[in-house]
Amino acid sequence: MNIILLGPPGAGKGTQAQRLVERHGMRQLSTGDMLRAAVKAETPVGLQAKAVMERGELVSDAIVSALIGEQLTAMGPETGAIFDGYPRTAPQVAQLDAILTEHGRKLDHVIELDVDEEALVERITGRFTCAECGEGYHDRFKQPHAADTCDRCGSHEFKRRPDDNEQTVRTRMAEYRAKTAPILPLYEERGIVARVDGMADIDHVTQAIESALALS
Ligand code: AP5
Ligand code: MG
Ligand code: ZN
Repeated sequence: MNIILLGPPGAGKGTQAQRLVERHGMRQLSTGDMLRAAVKAETPVGLQAKAVMERGELVSDAIVSALIGEQLTAMGPETGAIFDGYPRTAPQVAQLDAILTEHGRKLDHVIELDVDEEALVERITGRFTCAECGEGYHDRFKQPHAADTCDRCGSHEFKRRPDDNEQTVRTRMAEYRAKTAPILPLYEERGIVARVDGMADIDHVTQAIESALALS
C-alpha cells in the first residue's frame, strides 16, 4: 500500500507516519527528514536547502523528487510507502506519479489531516525529538514517561528544529496555503482522499487513519 499524509506544518504527519511504521511495517518517506539529514551531513543538496528551510520556504521540486526516487529504489517492492510532507506542489504531484509508475507502484490513499491552523503554532513551538532515535515529543501533549529519558531508546538527549520558531512557522503555513493546499483537488478527482480530524488526540487520529486504510 502507498499513501500520502497531507496537512499543514504541525498537522501530525510525522507522528502518524511513525505509528504506521511501528504497527504495520510500512516505511516513512519524509522529505523534511531527508533534507535535514542532508543539511547535517553538509551534502551539496544540504548546502542548497539549509537557508531555504530556515526561512520556511519550499526547496526545489527537482531536489525533493530526486530524494524520493532514491529512497524508493532502495526499498523492497512489497514494503508500503508513507509519503510524509511530499508532494507539496502540483509539479511534485506529476513527478510522484511518474516515480510510482517507474517502480511499479500505485497510489492507494491520500489522508488529509484536517486541523485548525492557530492550534498548530503551539504544537510546533512545543515540539522536540529524541536526538538518538528520532521519537517525537511535545512539551504539553506528549512528554517522555520518565523525565528527560526517551521512552523508546533511553537516550537523555533531545533536540529542537531550527525552523520551529513562530515567525518561520507562519511562513511555512503561508507556503502550505499557497502551494500545497491546491493539490488536494487533484487527488479528490481520483476519489482517493479520506479526510481525518487531525485535532482529535493522537490515538484517535491513528484509529481514524487505520479505518480509512482498512487496517486494524
Ligand atoms: P517538514 O519536515 O515536512 O515540515 P512540515 O510540513 O512543516 O511539517 P512538520 O514536520 O512541522 O509537522 P508534522 O505534520 O510532521 O507534525 P508532527 O507529527 O511533528 O518540512 C520542513 C521543511 O523542509 C519545509 O519547510 C521545506 O523547506 C522543506 N521541504 C520538505 N518537504 C518538501 C517538499 N516536498 N517540497 C519542498 N520543500 C520541502 O507534530 C507536531 C507536534 O504536534 C509534535 O510535537 C507532536 O507530538 C504534536 N502532535 C501531533 N499530533 C497531535 C495531536 N493529534 N494532538 C496533539 N499534539 C499532536
Ligand atoms: Mg514532520
Ligand atoms: Zn530515543
